Amino acid sequence: MPVICEPDESVAKRLAAGFREHGRIVRTLRAVDERLAADPAELVVIIGPHVELSGAFAFAAARRSDRPEVGVVLVREKVDVGVMGEAMRAGIREVVPDRDFQALMDACRRCWEVSRGIQKAGRPEAPPSPGRDGKIVVMFAAKGGCGKTVLSTNLGVALAEREGLHVCLVDLDLAFGDVAIMLRLSPQRTIVHAVPMAGRLDETGMQSMLVRHESGLATVLAPVSPGESEQVSGPLVTELLGMLKRSFDVVLVDTPSQLSEHVLAAMDVADRHLLPVTPEVTALKGLRVTLDMLDLLGYPPAARSFLLNRADIKAGLSVADIEKVVGAPATVHLPHSQDVPASVNRGVPLVRQDPGHAFSQAVARVALAVTEGNEAVRDPGGRKLFRRSRAGRG
Ligand SMILES: Nc1ncnc2c1ncn2[C@@H]1O[C@H](COP(=O)(O)OP(=O)(O)OP(=O)(O)O)[C@@H](O)[C@H]1O
Ligand SMILES: [Mg+2]
Repeated sequence: MPVICEPDESVAKRLAAGFREHGRIVRTLRAVDERLAADPAELVVIIGPHVELSGAFAFAAARRSDRPEVGVVLVREKVDVGVMGEAMRAGIREVVPDRDFQALMDACRRCWEVSRGIQKAGRPEAPPSPGRDGKIVVMFAAKGGCGKTVLSTNLGVALAEREGLHVCLVDLDLAFGDVAIMLRLSPQRTIVHAVPMAGRLDETGMQSMLVRHESGLATVLAPVSPGESEQVSGPLVTELLGMLKRSFDVVLVDTPSQLSEHVLAAMDVADRHLLPVTPEVTALKGLRVTLDMLDLLGYPPAARSFLLNRADIKAGLSVADIEKVVGAPATVHLPHSQDVPASVNRGVPLVRQDPGHAFSQAVARVALAVTEGNEAVRDPGGRKLFRRSRAGRG
């Protein structure tokens, strides 16, 4: 049940109408503070249209540090880009127009889910200490449909949940990104929020564009409409990744299958390139072209991990054929399974739903390659798997 802050009694009652026992109505933000102090189980605060905006921003910014699990939903007569931007910077999770009952209900539900996720993950929404030096890991394949997004989302969740690391997944497939849909996240905030901050992006601005998954994984989502992607420049991607690297242990980047200026910007600052390939001639040709390009640009071969996805698919090329073309052994073989598309359709990554599944186990090996390097995966004992790594934590 949310706490509803609104000085006008009739408006407050209207806002409260959809909640069981009609929510808890208070008139001032000070009273909200008292309510939160009295009941640590309160997770959602609705700030009504007659509460002064600057007070609402200050309230949200303060709660972000002392009660990060509490989510604020701001209701305004008119929702415009200016209010939206400032609200997000202050850490307000949702802004909804007054009198839109459904929008308010949906926003509160999303807000509550995020709050529960943060509570479960047992850590604040904002990573506690900027000043890390995380790894940037880019997933790229020149052929579409190799499994980049399935692998990125599963890997992100595995690293965040099972390895206990602070992880951010950035969807650089700006025109057709699927990260939000595969993780069932609402793209209320996307990378486009960074556009007005280009050249002066700071920690608060960066935090304001993150959308959290219930596993604790943070995401920077792709724009909702393809046209918006044109506003995002290559230098902005470099700036954003540089900022994320200071707050997260691992910054994972999912990409489209074209070497856009955004992808090249990410490749440039990456510590590891994850290169998935499926056992098909077209995918293999794409990988060969990618390798030539990476060589040409001078990226070190040691920074590459080859991920042979759907390794066991019938009528596929043999592992030996593939490794001959690649010139190196595959770091991890991931099995083909109908459970993968089924998990995509459900919006629940397979590593979360079925950690013991052969595909999930293979993703755990990719996680190991990310945290410890390729050699750790090839270690026949494989005992390091599922170790709870705290590497890089402050
Ligand atoms: N190991 C697997 N077993 C079965 N199906 C898989 C496997 N890996 C990926 N898929 C399926 O292949 C399809 C493409 O996967 P995905 O969207 O992750 O590829 P992508 O490389 O991100 O594609 P795009 O280039 O279009 O972004 C999805 O339907 C997914 O469910
Ligand atoms: Mg994809």
